[in-house]
Amino acid sequence: MGASPETETRPRVVFTSPLPGHPETLLEGIARTTVHPFGGSRTEEELAELLREATGTVTLLSDPVTDRVLDACPGLRVIANYAVGYNNIDVASARARGISVTHTPDVLTEATADLTWSLLLAAARRITEGHAMVLRGEFEGWAPNLLLGMDLHGKTLGIVGMGRIGRAVARRAPGFGVRVVYAQQNPIPGSEEEALRARRLPLRELIETSDIVSLHCPLTEETRHLIDAEALAAMKPGALLINTARGAVVDEAALVATLRKGRISAGLDVYEREPEITEGLADLPNAVLLPHIGSAGAETRESMARMAAGDVRLVLEGQSPRHPVPET
Ligand code: DGY
Repeated sequence: MGASPETETRPRVVFTSPLPGHPETLLEGIARTTVHPFGGSRTEEELAELLREATGTVTLLSDPVTDRVLDACPGLRVIANYAVGYNNIDVASARARGISVTHTPDVLTEATADLTWSLLLAAARRITEGHAMVLRGEFEGWAPNLLLGMDLHGKTLGIVGMGRIGRAVARRAPGFGVRVVYAQQNPIPGSEEEALRARRLPLRELIETSDIVSLHCPLTEETRHLIDAEALAAMKPGALLINTARGAVVDEAALVATLRKGRISAGLDVYEREPEITEGLADLPNAVLLPHIGSAGAETRESMARMAAGDVRLVLEGQSPRHPVPET
């Protein structure tokens, strides 16, 4: 039996990948949904092909929703990005076309902060080097100088970008006896500075004085390569750079060159040209590398999925979405 005429006129919503918890069920009765198999990093042409007939879509951070793609999809009314970051979307172009753009803030804050500290601890205490050593059968017993790393207590953590995730990272610092400084254009409210015992510094001073620099700013034209060769050279000898934000905030080629000298270490969850990583990075013992899993808690990912589909539903019902990306 074919679809009823009523069903046929329902708007089409395209999920560019299956998502945890089957959030497409939230659109039952109001939309025809298509869930495409996960396609990795799609090209603009591939994405345009998927979205051509769509009124709504739930996209991944690897989907390039550019002006060209939007040109090819004149029926789109809502794009729900399954991520808090939305640098993959040309928001200005979408807005100019009257398309709502939403994202998934808040629900992933704690998971991402946990992962940031996991990476920080792994890099500071050389966890992955130790794990690899044991697996290679090279553990020959306790030794006074084996894998000496950075003691965390008493150190200074410099947070670049004190938004939701930056603050959640800061909240975890007192448990490790770590002081917090932060850099961002506008100060956070005084009461929060006090509660977090966080002091705002100019970015350069933060870079020069922190033992750990952790990046939590969005990727914009202003923050692209914010951490360049000069910034890396200004970091304290022995310092750690942690990036769970977006890869292109760091000049990855300059980072590899700096790491090769052994002056600093890094913990990275994100890369400049995902899923590629700059040649040489994977060979460095002083870099702990993860495959962009900041928000990958099972419950977190289901919450993100419900949030994205819920916003699509609201727009299709003629209401405002609850999680529009901020006005810039
Ligand atoms: C985001 O949400 O922007 C993360 O990078 C993926 O969850």
